[in-house]
Amino acid sequence: MTRRGLLKWLGGLAIAGASVGTYALAIEPGFLLRTQYYALTPPNWTPGLKLRLVLIADPHLGEPYMSLGRWSRILDLANSLEGDLNLLLGDFAATHRFVTSRIPIADTAHAAKKLTSRLGTYAIIGNHDWWGDATAQSLGHGPTLAERAMEDAGIPVLENRVARLAKDNLPFWLSGTASIVALKTEVRGRFEGRDDLPGTLAQVTDAAPIIHLAHEPDLFTQMPPRVSLTLSGHTHGGQVRLLGWSPIVPSEFGNRFAYGHIIEDGRHLIVSGGLGCSVLPVRLGVPPEITVVDLTG
Ligand SMILES: [Fe+2]
Repeated sequence: MTRRGLLKWLGGLAIAGASVGTYALAIEPGFLLRTQYYALTPPNWTPGLKLRLVLIADPHLGEPYMSLGRWSRILDLANSLEGDLNLLLGDFAATHRFVTSRIPIADTAHAAKKLTSRLGTYAIIGNHDWWGDATAQSLGHGPTLAERAMEDAGIPVLENRVARLAKDNLPFWLSGTASIVALKTEVRGRFEGRDDLPGTLAQVTDAAPIIHLAHEPDLFTQMPPRVSLTLSGHTHGGQVRLLGWSPIVPSEFGNRFAYGHIIEDGRHLIVSGGLGCSVLPVRLGVPPEITVVDLTG
């Protein structure tokens, strides 16, 4: 190769690298938005019970990536999907160092009041909502600011709680647990959970199917077969995901629960790729998504 040819080749490589960088740092995390659909008949499901769930996971609000304006557009898209239920799966605030202006959780929750659906909106709380709440951290328990903000906005929070709902007179349970890494400990990288899965499921008083909300998918390893479907966020699909593989996943189990519809021993888990970013404002190969789950019996 001539010197001129080599320079051209290196120049092309630099432009390609810069293009991928711009895409991963700005375009994919800051502008893209897609809808990911799943359709299934989960185990222990009631014949005739048809439900559309719209999942909004990990919005991580904070300027400049996730402004209130963008949050509003996401909520509009969610409304256009005509779900029976809107489910907010936690991590409402961005806590990474690239946030130029924080957005109060009260504003995030207030905006979410515009969500509409036949059976309403329910929420759970994410680890970042716990970690960003100094009072909850020092007390060692909730309710977190995020939980109170959602409840104040009229959105019930299933923090180790259940709700019994029905569509067309066919009942089902919605249950939710608190974060399994809610509290920081003195040892860096070690956390304490505030989840109580047995205590939550003990509140179920009949044989109607259960949909369980767990921010972190790692809780799926403890999910009994009685639960028809577990819904999670938290991983963001690893934020960088190429050919179905993510180099970094915030999970004890690596890629096992990183993204998508996972079936193990007849139990079902759906992990949303979520909308925002944590640690670094980068997404590549896993664009922000609203997740739609159609359940039929
Ligand atoms: Fe999270």
